[in-house]
Amino acid sequence: MNQPLVAGNWKMHKNIRETREFLHSLIKLLRPPLPCEVAIFPPFTSLPAAAEILTDSGIALGAQNVHWEPTGAFTGEISPLFLVELGCRYCIIGHSERRLLFGETDEICNRKIKAAQSAGLRPILCCGETLEERNAHQTIEILRRQLEKGLKGITSADLDIAYEPVWAIGTGHTATPDQAAEIHNWIHLWLRSRFDDAADHIRVLYGGSVKPENAMALIRQTGVDGLLVGGASLDVNTFSIIVNSFKEGQSVFS
Ligand code: PGA
Repeated sequence: MNQPLVAGNWKMHKNIRETREFLHSLIKLLRPPLPCEVAIFPPFTSLPAAAEILTDSGIALGAQNVHWEPTGAFTGEISPLFLVELGCRYCIIGHSERRLLFGETDEICNRKIKAAQSAGLRPILCCGETLEERNAHQTIEILRRQLEKGLKGITSADLDIAYEPVWAIGTGHTATPDQAAEIHNWIHLWLRSRFDDAADHIRVLYGGSVKPENAMALIRQTGVDGLLVGGASLDVNTFSIIVNSFKEGQSVFS
C-alpha cells in the first residue's frame, strides 16, 4: 500500500536561487518522519539544484513534462532517461495546461506514460473536465475517455492519477469535498476494473486551488489519496501546512 502523496507543481516559477532557498527551508520545516510522501516538481532548469539539495531528505523530485522517446532528433524536448539520471522519481503527464495550451492529446499522454514507465519514472496522469463539460453533464464521459485512451496498453500500475477539474485550477474555486469524493470513487472503480488488485497501488490525487483552508476536508474524503498543489506550493510555509494536514486528516486510503 502506498502512502498518500502531496505534490507541489511549481509550473514556470522559481529560478535556481529561489529553488535552493525554498528547499532548504522546506527541509527545516518538514522534520522526519514525514506525515505523507512529498514530491516537488520544479522547472527543468532547477532540477539539478533541487536534486542535490533533496538527496537523503526523504522528499522526492519530479518533472512537469517529458518526451515520449528516449533519445533522438527532438529539438527542445527532454528524455525520460535524462530525468531519471537527475534523480527524478515522478513525472506529471497531461496537465490541463499542456492539453489546452500546447495541444497535448490523450494519444500523446499515452506515449509519454509508456516512455516514462520504461525509463523507471512513475507518471502522474492528470485528467479533468472543463466548466462547460461539467455543466453539460459530460464529466464522467470526459474522464472515461482520458483514462481509456491515456492508459491504453499500460499494464504496470506504477503510476498515479490526478483529478484536476479544469474549472478549479488557479481559479480559487475548489471542488467541494463531496464533488471530489464522487469523482475519486468513480476513478477508483474504473482503475479496479482495468488493473484488478494492482489498482490498490494507484493513488488518485486531487488538484485545483488546494489551500491550507481546504486541504483537510479534501483528504478526509475516501478515495482522495493525496493532493497536487499548484499556486499554494510556491510559498514554503503554506505548502508545509498543507503537507502537515496529513498528520491529523489522514484519508482512509483505499
Ligand atoms: P492550483 O494548480 O493549485 O494553482 O489550482 C493546480 C495544478 O495546476 O496542478
